Amino acid sequence: MSPIDARSPTVAPSPAYPASPSASAVATLSGGVPPEPAPTVGASRPARRYEGRAVAIAIGACVAALGLALGAAHLMRLAQVRLTPNPRAPLPLAALAPLPQLDMPTYVRGRALFVATCATCHGPAGTGVPGLGKDLTHSLFVFERRDSVLVDFIRKGRDAADPLNTTKVAMPPLGGNPDLTAADLGALVVFMRGLQDPRRVPDVPEVSAPVVVAVKEPTDKEKAEALEAAGGDAERAEWIASGRKLFVASCASCHGKDGLGMPGLGKDLTTSEFVHRLSDDDLLAFLLKGRDPSDPANTSKIAMPPKGGNPALSEDDLLDIIAFLRSVAKTPGDSRKPQP
Ligand code: HEC
Ligand code: HEC
Repeated sequence: MSPIDARSPTVAPSPAYPASPSASAVATLSGGVPPEPAPTVGASRPARRYEGRAVAIAIGACVAALGLALGAAHLMRLAQVRLTPNPRAPLPLAALAPLPQLDMPTYVRGRALFVATCATCHGPAGTGVPGLGKDLTHSLFVFERRDSVLVDFIRKGRDAADPLNTTKVAMPPLGGNPDLTAADLGALVVFMRGLQDPRRVPDVPEVSAPVVVAVKEPTDKEKAEALEAAGGDAERAEWIASGRKLFVASCASCHGKDGLGMPGLGKDLTTSEFVHRLSDDDLLAFLLKGRDPSDPANTSKIAMPPKGGNPALSEDDLLDIIAFLRSVAKTPGDSRKPQP
């Protein structure tokens, strides 16, 4: 029914983008992507049928000149962009006719995954969070890479020691969420394409429901571990299992999936004196607030975002996460209960 369904049967991985900037220029020219010159050629054809040849030629010449000028403007904009190594330069996309529309359900799924896993560092709109992740809406890296290359990139991340790393902050493998599937990665790439060229996703539905956290159900082994950690208390075991899921989705990007911390990002929470010292209520208050780099208590000069950057987490969710943190705490004598 919608133009989206009709025009975009293909989803990632698709060769929607050429591999290199030079290829992109070639594709643009040979594919006749610039919209303005194309109709002018067609328009000059019926002119030939006029009796007054001179009039026709004059009109044709004007139209052709206009077409050339527009074409040249396109080329100049492309050239400018390619010569500027600044990733915040306007995307060449803005100067091109829109690419085919993206599959809306895939885009919406990608958006939910992005908000849950990537937004902590890249911001919910992909424009980046200072000191954490980069702006992806203007990233030439994203623009120039094929879908399959981007999927690979997300899978591997980019270590702070990687020569390609420009910020000295790590992009963790899978954004720190080991539960992302190949289909999830494809949807994330579709979402990033839409971020870069919103014309490909007209009429995007509003984000209505709270963000669904994309994680697998706990395995039997994890359930057994949770039960053991809860000292056989089945209800507490459920909180721990749920907390583990939520932690992997919202906190693992910086603290690692077992809470052991990530170099240059979040701290080890299993041995944290701070976690050990605080009651569940105080820890909840901390998680709601986070710890800004400007906070005197901040030791790393990296932000701990409120709710770990996932506004969809409820207080109950956070309490489950706290139950999980208690269960992995190594500090001896931890009561795993609110301190009296
Ligand atoms: C813990 C923070 C963090 C999370 C979570 C994170 N990223 Fe990143 N990401 C980064 C950092 C830092 C960089 C820049 C690394 C550098 O300096 O080259 C980056 C770079 C990127 C780039 C390359 C951009 C460029 O122009 O070089 C892409 C694409 C990307 N991230 C996508 C994602 C996606 C998709 C997710 C979610 C699955 C995600 N990131 C989750 C921190 C993060
Ligand atoms: C974007 C990265 C990031 C995310 C996501 C994140 N944290 Fe943090 N967290 C940090 C950083 C950085 C610190 C250390 C701040 C400092 O230097 O004091 C920190 C500190 C903490 C501390 C205090 C530890 C201590 O010893 O001072 C706790 C507890 C904590 N985080 C829990 C969580 C939980 C739970 C989540 C998920 C809901 C989460 N964090 C998500 C980056 C993050």
